Amino acid sequence: MGNKKTVGQRALFATKIGVIATTVGSAVGLGNIWRFPYEAGSNGGGAFMACYFMFIFIIGVPVICAEFIMGRGTRSNIFGAYRKLSPKGKWYVAGFMGILASVLILSFYSVVAGWILEYLIQSLTGSIKLADASANHVAFDEFSTSSFRPVIWTLSFLALNFLILINGVAKGIERMSNILMPMLFVLLVIFCINSLTLDKASEGLTFLFHPDFSKISPQVLLSAMGQAFFSLSLGLGCMTTYASYFGEGTKLGRTAMTTAILDTLVAILAGIIIFPAVFSFGFSPQAGPTLVFEVLPAVFNNLPGGVVWSSLFFLLLTLASLTSTISMSEISIAFMVEEWKLSRKVATIVNTLVAMFFGTLCALSFGVLSDVKIFGLTIFNLFDYASSNVLLPIGGMIASIFVGWVVDKRFVKSQMTGNGAYKSVLLPFVVFCLRYTAPAGIALVFLNSIGLI
Ligand code: TRP
Repeated sequence: MGNKKTVGQRALFATKIGVIATTVGSAVGLGNIWRFPYEAGSNGGGAFMACYFMFIFIIGVPVICAEFIMGRGTRSNIFGAYRKLSPKGKWYVAGFMGILASVLILSFYSVVAGWILEYLIQSLTGSIKLADASANHVAFDEFSTSSFRPVIWTLSFLALNFLILINGVAKGIERMSNILMPMLFVLLVIFCINSLTLDKASEGLTFLFHPDFSKISPQVLLSAMGQAFFSLSLGLGCMTTYASYFGEGTKLGRTAMTTAILDTLVAILAGIIIFPAVFSFGFSPQAGPTLVFEVLPAVFNNLPGGVVWSSLFFLLLTLASLTSTISMSEISIAFMVEEWKLSRKVATIVNTLVAMFFGTLCALSFGVLSDVKIFGLTIFNLFDYASSNVLLPIGGMIASIFVGWVVDKRFVKSQMTGNGAYKSVLLPFVVFCLRYTAPAGIALVFLNSIGLI
């Protein structure tokens, strides 16, 4: 594409399906299939879900719109968008923060994607152990705490990410997402049906969908908010960067809603796959980041032709992770190209090398570096916790205050309504949330979690 639709030097997404597929491609990834189940499991299941849904719609959707408005309206990376919309203000500092955080996320995300690669290769070669609870736990523990393979896979994943990025933004992603996301979806539905036939399926579903409101604690609220931001790729300017490639005809409100709904649907499917299996096979829902790597092999074990399913699943998940890491990388690459005038190639190399360095530290923090603790957390857990639960919500809060209060109302309106060409039913809701609900909600959750209220 790119050759047909351009604005200045910047390529635009060719079709409507291209826009949805790429934003959903960014949103859907390990956040839904790896992070969501372990966060829901560690934070009381149903109580977490209820908070998560609430945050997706009252904070997530409006903040996606804010990021879209900034990106398409300025056709810039996140830093440039703040600068263009407020040349005299200091808002661009938030852009910087987003760019830095994107590299941190890319680092630990690549470690998990590396685990997926290991499981993919093990599935393809037939060496994967599809067994019950304790054997899966031992197998994963042995692998993840070793030094060599997790690092090699982290670096290999980043190398793959690099190769796709170097070929330019739109071509690769757009083509891949169009085929891949629907396939992954179908596979997830099949696994769901399988999980629903397990003997303790109803226990799993009750855990996930029956909210016990007494379990809502400051920690549950903070985790649910962090997960909503992480899963929607919000708070760092990822959606800003992607929206800078949207065509003028793209309806921002509708795209935001579609992205949020599809992303949430995939997380729910992942939950329906994992929790019936957790209870039926005797796992603990509170296992943390290793949860799905222990539970999924048991799910495949229960399916006829297990390795075929696991190969296909880990392959699609690798690709889904790539569409997410491409979007994360694009934040800093677009910044370096547009603000520092680096060539795309050099910018991509810088992004990859930094992520390789931190990614290696994260990978080793399960093994040789497991004693290195900062604020009581390992390097991996610190990166995960600090980015999702702190940096993303702060970035989102700043974006919502910025678009809600600082940016000219007419600009917001014209972006949401195609310059008045159509009505946006979401507009009043979005403006209200950006001004009041989102900043206040995020602030309350923060203050609550540090014990101030
Ligand atoms: N949302 C993605 C997932 O669920 C991860 C992701 C992609 C992300 N880009 C991001 C998270 C930007 C935060 C910020 O897997």
